[in-house]
Amino acid sequence: MKIDGKPYRSIWREASGEVRIIDQRWLPHELRIVPLRDRAEFAAAIRDMWVRGAPLIGATAAYGVAVQMQGDASDASLRETWEVLHETRPTAINLKWALDEMTRHLAPLPVTERPAAAWARAAEIADEDVEINRRIGEHGLAIIREIAARKGGGRVNILTHCNAGWPATVDWGTATSPIYHAVEAGIDVHVFVDETRPRNQGAQLTAWELNSHGVSHDLIVDNAGGHLMQHGEVDMVIVGTDRTTANGDVCNKIGTYLKALAAKANGVPFYVALPSPTIDWTVKDGVKEIPIEERAGSEVTHVQGRDAAGRVICVQISPDGTPARNPAFDVTPAHLVTGLITERGICTASSEGLAAMFPDRVRG
Ligand code: MRU
Repeated sequence: MKIDGKPYRSIWREASGEVRIIDQRWLPHELRIVPLRDRAEFAAAIRDMWVRGAPLIGATAAYGVAVQMQGDASDASLRETWEVLHETRPTAINLKWALDEMTRHLAPLPVTERPAAAWARAAEIADEDVEINRRIGEHGLAIIREIAARKGGGRVNILTHCNAGWPATVDWGTATSPIYHAVEAGIDVHVFVDETRPRNQGAQLTAWELNSHGVSHDLIVDNAGGHLMQHGEVDMVIVGTDRTTANGDVCNKIGTYLKALAAKANGVPFYVALPSPTIDWTVKDGVKEIPIEERAGSEVTHVQGRDAAGRVICVQISPDGTPARNPAFDVTPAHLVTGLITERGICTASSEGLAAMFPDRVRG
């Protein structure tokens, strides 16, 4: 997508061979582009959320393996890199998917062939993500088109949570892709953007990217969604996901579950944009089996913003020493989900729906 009219991906390899990312900790206030030079930097970038969003975490891990293979392509190095990168964040399954994919591809090769093969596969994983998201956009567009038609061409109001936009992926975003496609198709779309405490990915990233692309939107506090739905102001919800189980339970940013409950209570369709690398075919019960990342309490007791002089600052909002809990994700049970928008089409959030959509991937 574009920043100031210039096309960007969220991660790319320069002609010099250097891997670069947009360091998302500074957005929307500063556009900082930084190189990731070694395995330790890739691990820090994922753990400390210079990059974030399930698909981008996966693509970053793939490039991290490639950088490591350049220096040491031994079996031990490949194994150790899997471990070091895998332990950075526990919830988004795309991380494990990408590391497994790189290992499966590289392990059978002679050591001398691994560096070139690793760069090639990492680039493919990034390109595949872009294509998957583009297709999710086309399938999601059909739903938005239908709602617009039902409303006689009237404005379609969409609520989204967190940032499942292009900065969370290599490009397009998952939840935002149908929105961008709808805007391109000339449909009148308006987006309600949940701020998404504690890290405010909605306020900082989704609002930023929608603004950059001229998409009509309002930033709302996390607790406003239920009220808007009750008053008929939301036509549909689209969110992303960090891990969706084989039976369609959806793990996503904390607060997604409450939005799904409010949507169900108010008859608002609740859709999840789901790229296939985000499906965990080994898990059936999302609530019991998905590890939920617990992040530092300081993310709850403090907020980041910009002061009058334009400097990015962090301010404390609670009394000194206030204890805080910070589960970063929650699980929305499949029965609250209207449909999963995948790159192959839309299916019900159920083992039957997913198995019919991905007969080549389903296990056991
Ligand atoms: O903690 P984050 O910012 O990595 O969480 C991101 C989300 O929860 C996104 O909604 C999810 O990864 C889907 S991104 C296409």
